[in-house]
Order: sequence, then C-alpha cells, then structure tokens
Amino acid sequence: MDKITEEVLIPFLFEDIKTSERPEIILANVPEFKELMMQYECAIMEVNTKLHVLNNEFSHMYQRNPIESIKTRIKTPASILEKLNRRNLPICIDSLENGLTDIAGIRVICPFPDDIYNVAELLTNQDDVMTVARKDYIKNPKKNGYRSLHLIIEIPIFLASGKKHMKVEVQLRTIAMDFWASLDHKLRYKQNLKNSEEIALELRECADIIAGVDLKMQNIRKKIQ
Ligand code: GTP
Ligand code: MG
Repeated sequence: MDKITEEVLIPFLFEDIKTSERPEIILANVPEFKELMMQYECAIMEVNTKLHVLNNEFSHMYQRNPIESIKTRIKTPASILEKLNRRNLPICIDSLENGLTDIAGIRVICPFPDDIYNVAELLTNQDDVMTVARKDYIKNPKKNGYRSLHLIIEIPIFLASGKKHMKVEVQLRTIAMDFWASLDHKLRYKQNLKNSEEIALELRECADIIAGVDLKMQNIRKKIQ
C-alpha cells in the first residue's frame, strides 16, 4: 500500500476520538473530514439543481409542480460517529465514503404518489446519475406504516483536483407521508412511553388511512385535469 492510501485508511486521530468526551468536536476539525463534508455539500447542490430544473420544466409544461418542497441536510459529526459505532466501522475516511451512504441527504416532498415515481425516474435516467440502491417503502411499507421511496444515487462533482463521484441519499414522499413520518420520528425519541404499543398501532392505522387519502386525492386530480 502506498503511503497516501495508508494515511487515509488509518483511522484519523482514532485514540483521541475514542477517549474524548466530545469526539464529534475533534472529528469536525479534522481537515480531511472538513474537506469531505464540503464535497458532500457540493453533491447536494448538484442534485438540488437537477430537481429544481425538473420542477421548472414540468411546471412550464403542465402548469403544476411535481415537487412541493426540498429539504437537504449533511449528517452531523455526532450522528456520523454514532452510526460508525453502531456498524462497528473504524473512524476513517474510507468508512465514511464506502460504509455510510447517507452523509448527504435530500428529502423531496411531492403532492401526489405518481409524482414521486415520475421525479425518481427522471432523475435516475440522467446519464450522470447512477442508482446504487433503491428501496420502495411505498409498494412495501414498513411494519410500522412508514412509506417513502429511498434512493442512493452517485453523481459526479467537478473539483479543481478533478472529477469525484459522491453518494447521496434521496428520500421521496408525499406531503401526507411526510406529515406521518414527522410524528413517527417524535415517537421514536419517546420510546419509554407507557402506552407506546397502543400509539404505534394508532400510528399504523393513520399511515394506512393516509395512503388511501393520497390515492383518492390523486384520482380527484386526474378527474380535474
Ligand atoms: P438508517 O441507519 O436509519 O439510515 O437506516 P437504514 O440504513 O436501514 O436505511 P433505511 O432506508 O431503512 O432508512 C433511512 C432513513 O429513512 C432513516 O434515517 C430515516 O430518515 C428514514 N426512515 C426509515 N424508516 C423510518 C421510519 O420508520 N420512520 C421515520 N420517521 N423515518 C424512517
Ligand atoms: Mg439515515
């Protein structure tokens, strides 16, 4: 192994990070880490632009937007460390780039279920976009009722040093699915609730009702058009 590869693969400041009380602060200040996070920011900008272009063109042609809103986020150093730990991965650049696929995240909120599939197809058919993974939690909802279409895509960014391929997690869901997921997310952080099973069941029922309403609303839109 040449020296540079070895240096990058060796867990950076591994001991410092392991023994620190605030390891995320140490990680956040490692130059290689900061550079990588900057590259993920660039990847998010690229995908964001692609989505805005699709939305503009669609609204020009059909006088309506298939994308209601877009939210982007870079995983925090604390959350990155937590996930590396959970997956038993060493703290190094290689783990971040090849072990984690959700450092750059984009959530696309669409008005209707068919918009999700249209936007996903138009995005993944672009010749500089490669689909690494696809999980359809709309056709196959999670047991708790969670619905969304998840894509891991790889796109090139163009840096002064050359072209680099970056992974981005894209979550597509309807406004209604997002409404449900935000409440479910709150429940996850309150797992010690006494009646959590009952709440989970009620949430599951809501997810199913919401899925029905989504399809009904889509049918109404088709009748209006
Ligand atoms: P993570 O380790 O959480 O990233 O999950 P994973 O690698 O198994 O991937 P998956 O595609 O199942 O989930 C990725 C992301 O989707 C999560 O980080 C959440 O943002 C979202 N997600 C998945 N399942 C649920 C769920 O049941 N409820 C909510 N609110 N969000 C979910
Ligand atoms: Mg995640």
